[in-house]
Amino acid sequence: APKTADITVHLDQSLGTIAPTIYGQFIEHLGRAIYGGIYDDQQHRFRPDVLEKVQRLRPTLLRYPGGTVTKIYHWKDGVGKNRPVRKNLIWGGYDNNHVGTDEFMEYARLLGAAPFLTVNMSTGTAEEAAEWVEYCNATEGDYATQRKANGHPAPYQVKYWGLGNEEAAKEDAGRLQDPRDYIKQAWYYAKLMKLQDPSVQLIMVGDKPDWNQQVLQELHPICDYIALHLYASSKPSDPASLFTSIAEMEAAIKTTAAQIAALTPPKVASFSKWYRFPARQQPVKIAVDEWGIWENGGRGAYDLEVDYTWNHALGVATFLNIFQRNAAVIGLATWAQTVNVLAPIMTNGTTSICQTIYYPLELYRRLCGPQSVAVTTTGTEALDVSASTDGKTLTLAIVNRDSKVVVPLKLNAKVAGPWTAHELNASSIEAMNTLKAPDKNVVSYKQRTLPAGATTYTAEAHSITILQAKL
Ligand code: AHR
Repeated sequence: APKTADITVHLDQSLGTIAPTIYGQFIEHLGRAIYGGIYDDQQHRFRPDVLEKVQRLRPTLLRYPGGTVTKIYHWKDGVGKNRPVRKNLIWGGYDNNHVGTDEFMEYARLLGAAPFLTVNMSTGTAEEAAEWVEYCNATEGDYATQRKANGHPAPYQVKYWGLGNEEAAKEDAGRLQDPRDYIKQAWYYAKLMKLQDPSVQLIMVGDKPDWNQQVLQELHPICDYIALHLYASSKPSDPASLFTSIAEMEAAIKTTAAQIAALTPPKVASFSKWYRFPARQQPVKIAVDEWGIWENGGRGAYDLEVDYTWNHALGVATFLNIFQRNAAVIGLATWAQTVNVLAPIMTNGTTSICQTIYYPLELYRRLCGPQSVAVTTTGTEALDVSASTDGKTLTLAIVNRDSKVVVPLKLNAKVAGPWTAHELNASSIEAMNTLKAPDKNVVSYKQRTLPAGATTYTAEAHSITILQAKL
């Protein structure tokens, strides 16, 4: 008989509040992510079929315009009437700038997502970044006046601003590969941007522990978030290796968390004796402002149009468990990306589909949170589990990553009512939704209530289950 595993919930051990902003999305001027993805450039409108699918994901945050493209992106090209067509020097093709800041804001509004903009620290200037803050957030000034003239009287109140993107990456040949250069520039960008709007929250570029240590040490009085980009992948013909890769991501989170914990709180953020701003009120948090699964062999620009199997969906659920378990230190996360590029949603000229990875994200966003609590699992390596509560209901998120083994479970938790199970699965870990069969969904979803008093559950092979019970 298969071995029984124990899941024990420690309701008295809080792991922190799961920030609603961990459920963000990322869109970039890259391949068919925007044009041909969220936007129909023939009809000059957002694609309604795609919008409906993104809306169902209920993203709380939307990051734009990149990503690597940030290194060549100039926001002024994308506002007003006369917009130049620019070569996309990073990803290839052209950007006619039909989607720019105002269109992005409109998309974020339609989604109910908070906007998150990333500024150009490679070929841009600090002044340009500060002018973007003015365009978005000010009521007065030349750029605020331009925004009004472009039909947007009210400021957008953009709170989240990324200072650059992957600036440490040598292969991107950005301007600031040495952390000392980044730190120097980031102070200057931050100062000019905060002179425009002192309330902006700044996301600093992170990388390996050594870079992060230096950036945190020098910038932490003005650093609200340190960014980590967490892309998992699997080895050829070894689907289980995906989970080893994802475990390395959790290790990177824990290393960064320890570095943050060692910082001493700032009293004041002082750019000089003249420019002083309130110190951040909260401890530095981690912004996982790009996360996802990046497999070789995709199509399209830079082979980034990847088909995702059900195994990848198990990976996404594992990632979400990691975010929940590390809730105390993860302040936001944006999934890279949204449409066509490493994406849960794929399009062709006439239709769009949800890939397998779409479904766990939708389920977690709907049911989990807001307080993360400790949970231990014994008896198997196959399971990955997180637990959360709103004070009235206990929610367990259980992923059985084994492609063959069914795991009988003993649930050790004091609950007052029967468990309701929300079960996602597919016929095999290789199952995929593709545009070749747009009407076929390989992912099954079942909701059922377990018998009153039941303290056991069977986690089917390659399954994702959310169990909920009243406390
Ligand atoms: O998401 C695709 C790319 O991955 C982004 O542009 C970059 O930031 C990362 O390397």
